[in-house]
Amino acid sequence: MSGIKLISTGSALPAQEVTNFDLEKKVDTSDEWIVTRTGIKSRHYCGEGESHLGLCLAAARQALERAGIEPGQIGVCLVATLTQDTMTPSAACVLQKELGLAEDTVCFDLNAACAGFVYGLHTAECLLAASERKYGLVIGGEVLSRITDFTDRSTCVLFGDGAGAAIVRWGEDYPSLSAVMGSRGNSGVLYIPGVNTGDPSYIHMDGKEVFRFAVEVLPRCAKEVAAKAGISLDEVDRFAFHQANQRILDHAIKKLKLDPAKCTGNIAHTGNTSAASVPILLDQLVSSGQLRSGQKVLCAGFGGGLTWAGALLQLA
Ligand code: UT7
Repeated sequence: MSGIKLISTGSALPAQEVTNFDLEKKVDTSDEWIVTRTGIKSRHYCGEGESHLGLCLAAARQALERAGIEPGQIGVCLVATLTQDTMTPSAACVLQKELGLAEDTVCFDLNAACAGFVYGLHTAECLLAASERKYGLVIGGEVLSRITDFTDRSTCVLFGDGAGAAIVRWGEDYPSLSAVMGSRGNSGVLYIPGVNTGDPSYIHMDGKEVFRFAVEVLPRCAKEVAAKAGISLDEVDRFAFHQANQRILDHAIKKLKLDPAKCTGNIAHTGNTSAASVPILLDQLVSSGQLRSGQKVLCAGFGGGLTWAGALLQLA
């Protein structure tokens, strides 16, 4: 058996917190509608002087410091995102310079939307097996406020900005992530036009269709990860699910008969931060002592693509 363990985490949220009441002043919505339909009360938006890079750097520096390792010990640096500051260089390449990572570090961005961070964990696990340096830095970072259409009330109340980072270490005798991943190409239900379309790069979503997809795929993905790891869901210490909608989470908790105390989330004050959602939550679980050394957390993400991914991660 070989795989990766979670060594440390970090996260960063922009200073500006935007409440549902703030959004009531911009679009025809209400705090009551947003809380009842999604569980979201506020989210964070980057302001002037804040950037995708700034958030990723802050989260990464915190994780590196907590791991007690030097940047030169990192062999792989991956950023899961769809809102990096520049199409090229990738955010991961810019981080190579800013963090002082060695030039032979494998650095690239990865787009699997809200499943991106978990895709990144599995990619790091595979790449680190072949790397001389066994530490990896996996980040999920998004500035979704900059691709949000503030005239579309059905999407603009959902998203927020932030970044989360994880330092992982590969070991010959470490448990495998038992990762499960999938994609179901669908360009119609959740998409952001790219540069070739000439359309503004705003998030478009058929909420009901995505909701149906999420409640189908999240419980199945969690079950498959546990089966692959050869454990029951009862043996999992924590669940870190993508924070898209509290109703989706409640559905998965009920369907899988999970202990809600093991499924605490943060959607109320972060909103949906796509690829950043799982690593921000992981950092909050570790920092608050809800996820402790030796414990196993089942991470799962789902979203645009459509994509999904789950993995069982053990805290070193
Ligand atoms: O991270 C990627 C994955 N994304 C997701 O998982 C999102 C999945 N989808 C969802 O979370 C939900 O579908 C939404 C929260 C987006 C929408 O909830 P819903 O219960 O599916 O609402 P709906 O779209 O069916 O809309 C119901 C009503 C409509 O009005 P009518 O047609 O019934 O008169 C909408 O126009 O609510 C209206 N509405 C709103 N009203 C107040 C839609 N957005 C708003 C709003 N404020 N912000």
